[in-house]
Amino acid sequence: TSAEAMTASRFAFKPVDIATDSIVHVPEGYTWDIVASWGDKLFSNAADFDHATGGDAASADRIFGENTDGMEFFTVGERQVITVNHEYVNPKINLPKNDGGMPASLEDVRKLQNLQGVTVMEVAEGDDGWKIVVDSPLNRRITHLTPMTFSGPAAGHDLLKTDADPEGTQSLGTFNNCGAGKTPWGTYLTCEENFNSYFGSTDAGFELPEDFKRYGISVETRYAYEKFDERFDISKNVNEPRRAGYVVEINPADPESTPVKRTALGRIKHENAECALARDGRVIVYMGDDERGEFLYKFVSNGTYQAGGSTDGLLDDGILYVAKFHDDGTGEWLALTEGTTGMSLPEICIFTRMAASRVGATTMDRPEWIAVNPVAVEAYCALTNNKNRGVKPNAGGDETPVGGPNPREKNEYGQIVRWYPENDDHADTKFKWDLFVMAGNPAVHKDAYAGSPNVNAGNMFNSPDGMAFDTRGLLWIQTDGEDSNEGDFAGQGNNQMLIGDPVTGEIARFLTAPIGSEVTGLCWSADLRTAFVGIQHPSAPFPDGEGKLPRSSIIAVRRDDKALIG
Ligand code: FEO
Ligand code: CA
Ligand code: CA
Ligand code: CA
Repeated sequence: TSAEAMTASRFAFKPVDIATDSIVHVPEGYTWDIVASWGDKLFSNAADFDHATGGDAASADRIFGENTDGMEFFTVGERQVITVNHEYVNPKINLPKNDGGMPASLEDVRKLQNLQGVTVMEVAEGDDGWKIVVDSPLNRRITHLTPMTFSGPAAGHDLLKTDADPEGTQSLGTFNNCGAGKTPWGTYLTCEENFNSYFGSTDAGFELPEDFKRYGISVETRYAYEKFDERFDISKNVNEPRRAGYVVEINPADPESTPVKRTALGRIKHENAECALARDGRVIVYMGDDERGEFLYKFVSNGTYQAGGSTDGLLDDGILYVAKFHDDGTGEWLALTEGTTGMSLPEICIFTRMAASRVGATTMDRPEWIAVNPVAVEAYCALTNNKNRGVKPNAGGDETPVGGPNPREKNEYGQIVRWYPENDDHADTKFKWDLFVMAGNPAVHKDAYAGSPNVNAGNMFNSPDGMAFDTRGLLWIQTDGEDSNEGDFAGQGNNQMLIGDPVTGEIARFLTAPIGSEVTGLCWSADLRTAFVGIQHPSAPFPDGEGKLPRSSIIAVRRDDKALIG
């Protein structure tokens, strides 16, 4: 029938089954290869990776870092460049000789600090696939120690000043970079997420300021930096954590450029930064704060972008909004201004969570990546899950009632919300919304936990996280969830990547990941014949096999017939 013809699948692949093993699976007619793994050389003067030691400490800032995450592809002249961040470290794997994997010296701390941040690397496709161009003049590592500047309303504010930076304008390093983004002018945005985990106190009795509680900064720490590097000791440097939690702009075309922390985009546990343009050319940046009960944001520049024109101030001068969803399928963006919050502009940029609470924004089920459809005026956000509704992760947070785009009491599967800006304009303050998918398990549940009608036993998944649109307007969905394949998760297997069609609602599984890993980070080669996909924190020894350390990696997925994939 014509109805069937209209909804004919746009997917050029036979979906893959679930997996529970420790390699990657892609559909028939496709292949995958390793592009870069933690420890691979960006520069020939780095030491070869050693599985016994987790790699040479002195080489840690000249190799591909740990825990690959948000990724964007750039062309710089004739060169092809992947810019990708390294979210966090797994000390037990990175320091395998240390008891319990915790750093035991400043040298250990420096190694961990240098394994995180960002990699800029030239890549090239040869007979054996895509590889790093070692010693390319564009190759660069940005770490927890790289100098960067603050810009925007909070730059120079007293709350950003430290003994080492009395002006409050210079930062060292970028932390826990999760998702990413790409500006219309070809720079990379990297987003600081769980930055709180790097700061601790050598004084167990240190009294936490109120703002630390809302952001989860405590005397305890995950990496013990503070024991060896005083900068991370909150009892000695109380403002240091207030200098993290931002979106950082990096120019991959200029390895000498200084990264810039854009305070106008707010301080939250940033997931990604998805850019769009308003009808009049103003720059929109959509951003999620990935914590239970936090919010969804949008920045709108005051100036407009013109191709080839000045970009000065576009990410410094504008208005930050936070989303309020109504149960009737409408919603609005609430401006965070001095008038609406009673806070000064720098305070709004530094204590963004508290500003959003003051205007009555909607608490969300952990907003992860946002993706803007290139062929329709609509945006999507993965709400990954909320297993503990009502239990506030941090003091000072708001109530998290069921409602709107967060309809489940106990939400272990997650959902994807989408919104349609009024007047087909991303700058509009009104929108309509619906749910593209409620993830679920129709093999285990018959009620709402079975998921929406576009979920079935053949495509089910939990915890959507990374998302990106390809040029055809298909939504690629990556998961970071429970991979036990048991109980409520029986039949869902390892984490995976699926493709969704926003027009028909169809969803099909394209890739399965090694056990223990999440799939995160996605971009395409300039010719759209390769999809680059991130495999983060495998637990089995992927990709090198038994007896080797697991290594987070970027893989290249191509069609055997070399046809377009994106
Ligand atoms: Fe780093 Fe919210 O994922
Ligand atoms: Ca994520
Ligand atoms: Ca996640
Ligand atoms: Ca992750």
